[in-house]
Amino acid sequence: MRLIFLGPPGSGKGTQAALLEQRHGLCQISTGDILRQAVADGTPLGREAKACMDKGALVPDRVVIGIVEEKLKGRECEKGFVLDGFPRTTGQAEALDAIMRDFPAPQAHRIDRVVAFQVDEGALVTRLSGRRTCGECQAMYHLTLSPPRVEGVCDRCGGRLVQRNDDREEVIRERLAVYEESTRPLLEFYGGRGQLIRLPAVGPVEDVHAALKAAVGL
Ligand code: AP5
Repeated sequence: MRLIFLGPPGSGKGTQAALLEQRHGLCQISTGDILRQAVADGTPLGREAKACMDKGALVPDRVVIGIVEEKLKGRECEKGFVLDGFPRTTGQAEALDAIMRDFPAPQAHRIDRVVAFQVDEGALVTRLSGRRTCGECQAMYHLTLSPPRVEGVCDRCGGRLVQRNDDREEVIRERLAVYEESTRPLLEFYGGRGQLIRLPAVGPVEDVHAALKAAVGL
């Protein structure tokens, strides 16, 4: 199965994509995670991306399109994938169409469903401002909604929990504005093709997961 997850920052795309990878073997392709890794590694890509990410802006299309194309051609995507955070602009969506068209016939990739996560803005700000991530294994927590057993320490690996640079309130507001301007139009882009499913993504993570699976037919 090949899925696209659309939705504002904090709507739970990454949480649900990770569960589909763990439980159903779908490859999670998170452009945000790939870019953060490049920043941490200090690569030229990371240096270019950091300036955009820290202020809540999008990284240029040419950069992310190249990343996604390379990942989609990898063997780990043969059994299916979830695009988590891509496409985010009409230009990226058109580029994805072209990538899909160019796949050799036996491997032809087709997007099965586009899931639009829906959460109101107040809840998004609460989720993001309280999010903490393990600096070692990237496990995700929330100060009040899903706290670790020991404050500041990852349950899974004992790593230190950190706040993402772009989870400060002023940057969150900018990311939400960028979503409205650049990414929301994709709901119409995919809606017009009959591929879009709108998923109310509030309530416990496992309830959202069950609703997601039912919606995509997993
Ligand atoms: P990216 O990392 O993709 O960030 P995002 O889209 O803003 O999404 P988030 O990771 O913040 O949220 P999410 O929807 O995945 O929610 P999550 O599951 O984490 O991108 C970061 C930056 O990279 C961008 O700003 C841009 O600069 C750049 N970038 C990335 N892709 C790009 C692209 N294609 N083009 C250009 N630039 C790009 O959950 C959030 C919190 O909520 C967590 O604390 C979690 O525990 C909690 N939570 C999850 N589900 C629930 C629930 N059901 N109930 C309560 N809490 C929940």
